[in-house]
Amino acid sequence: MKKLFLLLMALILLCMPVLAEDATSSATLAVDDFPRLPKGDSRILVVFFSPEKTVCSAAIAAANALGSEIFEIRPAEPYTAEDLNYHDRQSRTSIEMNDPASRPEIAEMPVLDRFDTILLGYPIWWGQAPRILCTFVESVDLSGKTVIPFCTSGSSGAGSSAVNLQKLGSEDAVWLEAKRFNNGSTKEDVYAWAESLNLQ
Ligand SMILES: Cc1cc2nc3c(=O)[nH]c(=O)nc-3n(C[C@H](O)[C@H](O)[C@H](O)COP(=O)(O)O)c2cc1C
Repeated sequence: MKKLFLLLMALILLCMPVLAEDATSSATLAVDDFPRLPKGDSRILVVFFSPEKTVCSAAIAAANALGSEIFEIRPAEPYTAEDLNYHDRQSRTSIEMNDPASRPEIAEMPVLDRFDTILLGYPIWWGQAPRILCTFVESVDLSGKTVIPFCTSGSSGAGSSAVNLQKLGSEDAVWLEAKRFNNGSTKEDVYAWAESLNLQ
């Protein structure tokens, strides 16, 4: 009995580094995390930022509809509930959005080489994309790629959010018009939009 226990403990210890590596090695959400995704070498990547997880649901639905890969932009310093309080003029998000030069750091950048189409999802903050999206478009090479912006919001439209991001990014990227979903949109709404893009 003692031997069996020791053997079990040894097995658990052997597996631990693998589990730890899985949890931290990459911000890319593996295709296997989303059982409905067909596997394959997709040329489409859904990139999203979603501190309150609304855009995240839309991004997963879009990736499912397109059979694409998916990558979450994670801030080096995660946003707390206080940071996200837009009623407080001194909150982190209020300060960032009031400063056009603000560029919050991203924890890990994706490798975009093998993708030719990037769906870029973000929430609307004060009518614009969060400043961390500026960090993203200024840090990656989008040359020759098609960027398809999408956003979620309580009531505002996409407005100039995507056009302003486009101005900061690679000159020869093609940007489609941004699609905005409201906070009550369903997975089916996202599927219908993703399929209407005729990307496959
Ligand atoms: C700092 C901040 C500013 C926001 N500004 C707006 C806004 O200008 N217009 C709007 O309709 N919703 C605004 N919202 C609501 C978000 O756009 C909306 O809840 C969005 O779906 C959140 O996406 P997420 O859950 O993926 O973070 C704001 C939310 C936050 C945290």
